[in-house]
Amino acid sequence: MPTPFLAALPIRRLSPRDLAACADLSEDRGWPREEHKWGFLLTAGQGYGIDDPHGGLVAACVVTTYGPYDRPDLGAIGMVLVAERHARQGIGRRLMRHVVSAMGSTPLALHATPYGRPLYEQLGFKATGRAEMLQGHFTPEGREPRVATRAATAEDLIAILRLDEEVFGADRTHLITRLPAFADRLHVAEDDGRITGYAATWPNTDTQVVGPLIAHDTETAQALLTSLAAHTTRPLRTDIDVRHENLLAWANDRGLAPVASSAVMTHGIPEPPGDWTRRFAPLTVAA
Ligand SMILES: CC(C)(COP(=O)(O)OP(=O)(O)OC[C@H]1O[C@@H](n2cnc3c(N)ncnc32)[C@H](O)[C@@H]1OP(=O)(O)O)[C@@H](O)C(=O)NCCC(=O)NCCS
Repeated sequence: MPTPFLAALPIRRLSPRDLAACADLSEDRGWPREEHKWGFLLTAGQGYGIDDPHGGLVAACVVTTYGPYDRPDLGAIGMVLVAERHARQGIGRRLMRHVVSAMGSTPLALHATPYGRPLYEQLGFKATGRAEMLQGHFTPEGREPRVATRAATAEDLIAILRLDEEVFGADRTHLITRLPAFADRLHVAEDDGRITGYAATWPNTDTQVVGPLIAHDTETAQALLTSLAAHTTRPLRTDIDVRHENLLAWANDRGLAPVASSAVMTHGIPEPPGDWTRRFAPLTVAA
């Protein structure tokens, strides 16, 4: 049974001012604090949370919408967290119901941990796929990749936005235009003057995350990953769609080991829009 006062606490919209409280909540659940990522999501997306009368947050989550502002094509839900001391009292369900209802008829997608999955299933989400989280120190191959890559410039932005919309299936301008500030590096792959892929790497608490990773084919994805890895000594992390078996096998051989997996779940659509064959890794599993 829920503690009566918990069920009465209001759900409010979060802002970037709540960043420290969100990071505290991550830490409370044994997750890294991920302040850089929280800062990005609380700016590019919309956070929802419940204040603890004793200080801090009881629960939080973030929804990032894509497509037209007033009529989004898709909402991605992430960072769903309930403080350990308030777990299993219906708070997660209440927060998620609120968010699903606030999103109306907008199709929703998320990456679920094994903890979150039963809750999402109760709310009508269906598992449609899986992503494998890989982590480790990357060892490059002995030979240079055949696909040419380079650091992106401001002139590439329009081509990157066009490619991203084609592959993701919705306009992500508000997210992609934040990448140059959020990411350490943004690289593009080029073939005959045409951009055939792009990828970014950004610093998380303990790892350097590679994502988004969008590429014409596996070889292009490999070249982008290799070029980004060359600029860091930190362990890499990336979340690869399991349908990309060849990239997964290659990344394993290069030192990136599977450490966890998440279920891709959708609500209101049979599967995420766009072209999965060119979508190798998300910016973060939370957006
Ligand atoms: C997942 C999480 C948000 C659930 O929040 P919560 O407030 O504890 O969940 P609720 O009490 O609303 O429970 C909703 C349902 O989720 C499932 N559930 C929640 N915690 C569970 C657990 N520890 N083991 C198994 N099922 C669980 C149950 O089906 C539960 O329904 P029931 O109690 O009627 O059986 C919370 O456990 C959490 O913060 N976990 C760590 C972070 C995480 O993995 N987040 C999910 C990201 S996708």
